[in-house]
Amino acid sequence: MMKVFNKNKLLQDYLSSLDSSTSIGFVPTMGALHKGHMSLIEKAKKENDCIVVSIFVNPTQFDKKEDLTNYPKTLDQDLELLKTIDCIIVFAPNANEIYEGNITSTLFDFDGLEFVMEGEHRKGHFDGVGTIVKRLFEIVKPHKAYFGEKDFQQLQIIKKLVQKYQLPVEIVPCEIYREKDGLAMSSRNVRLTEIQRKEAPFIYKTLTKARKKFEKKSVSEVINWVEKQFEKNEILKLEYFEIADIHTLKPTEFKNDETSYRAFIAVFAGSIRLIDNIALN
Ligand code: PAJ
Repeated sequence: MMKVFNKNKLLQDYLSSLDSSTSIGFVPTMGALHKGHMSLIEKAKKENDCIVVSIFVNPTQFDKKEDLTNYPKTLDQDLELLKTIDCIIVFAPNANEIYEGNITSTLFDFDGLEFVMEGEHRKGHFDGVGTIVKRLFEIVKPHKAYFGEKDFQQLQIIKKLVQKYQLPVEIVPCEIYREKDGLAMSSRNVRLTEIQRKEAPFIYKTLTKARKKFEKKSVSEVINWVEKQFEKNEILKLEYFEIADIHTLKPTEFKNDETSYRAFIAVFAGSIRLIDNIALN
């Protein structure tokens, strides 16, 4: 049976009433749930007795007001989707409740992971993410928490957060879930116009071609090639394309065989920002 809580205290009371051997898997989300989110929830369900899914559009991680305003909010639909899942607990607080009246970010030091890519282009974003995820972990006290590789930088930052603060939770990475045409599922996809939606699979297509090129070509050759593909595209505008070490997330200039690399991309379709990434080796 599904249980829905809006208050920290009521959720905590309920969770502490469960048998102490109950394992809790946690999937934090901002709602507008899609199959990508559901793949995390299914994985969590396999590995735990009970699942907590949080639905909260966290204002402190948005660097642009209009992105927050336009972010899809579909709570009734989300609950409809979740109610089919056994032993699921939904936590859907409002901002004042979860932040206890002080809706601001804590400043974090994530050893430089926060300065590149999403951190560089969305100022303060990861302070907002760190603040809310730490707060949620403190309230939910999960044994395991599930994060998608769709937001690979976020996943690495959460691992760093857990390590730095010695939080008693295991972080479980989950593969990117894609549409049949390759487009990574995202809550923002519903905002794409028909023309933009048709063109959006170009992002993943270019990533897979870049992965192929990376086998033989230098880093700068691959980057130049990707930039050129987007110069020719009239619908999608490239914000960044980077090839980085998966642990430091520092952009690579010269590759070596001992390092694992991933390519990261952010693209605008009109005002809608889409991100994706792919393992290269
Ligand atoms: P949101 O964008 O709703 O994503 C919630 C979780 O679902 C994240 O871990 C994200 O990486 C994962 N996810 C989204 N699309 C996915 C896809 N196509 N395949 C696999 N996983 C996918 O990420 C956030 O919310 C927020 O920053 C949050 C962590 C909840 C903090 O506010």
